[in-house]
Amino acid sequence: MRELIFATNNKHKVEEVKAALKGEVKLHTLSECGLEGDIPETSNTLEGNALQKAMWVWERTHKDCFADDTGLEVAALGGAPGVFSARYAGEHCSFDDNIDKLLDALKGVKERDACFRTVICLIENGVPKYFEGRVDGQILHERHSNGEGFGYDPVFMPARFAVSFAEMPLEVKNRISHRGLAVKKLVSYLES
Ligand code: IMP
Repeated sequence: MRELIFATNNKHKVEEVKAALKGEVKLHTLSECGLEGDIPETSNTLEGNALQKAMWVWERTHKDCFADDTGLEVAALGGAPGVFSARYAGEHCSFDDNIDKLLDALKGVKERDACFRTVICLIENGVPKYFEGRVDGQILHERHSNGEGFGYDPVFMPARFAVSFAEMPLEVKNRISHRGLAVKKLVSYLES
């Protein structure tokens, strides 16, 4: 069976990708491969960070691997927070801090178009290949949540829906989300 290392220790991401792979590929996480330490993410693009993370694994293992990077891009903010989405309100900030900063930045702004974009970089035999997933939507004026999701989910409403990501059952979000779509493209490629 084909084996791949996923450059993450995030259990939720691993479960999502495993479910999409339907057992056809054996997935290993960083800790399962004995890889420790913070992987550098110093690029100013999602593609650059995904490549950097995947290359970090490849250089240490010489095994096929992939990494992902995600950002929320808000049109009225010139694409911010983008690649800096995790630390928009500062190093070690919480999801709530990030949402507060975003809502502040958009106070009084009518144009609230935004998208989530995920880039996956797969390295096969040392050669990188990219898969992108994107979901368009709007930034809400305040939080709407049933307690589902994480990150910016309470303030992101995908197009053609009347609820935020944080009000959707996880399986619905995964079907339409940036990460879900990028993973689907990766899986189709691996199956082909
Ligand atoms: P990462 O590259 O997957 O770690 O994502 C970077 C940051 O983007 C996270 O820390 C979250 O703030 C945000 N983010 C990524 N995916 C999602 C999502 O599905 N919903 C809400 N926020 C997300």
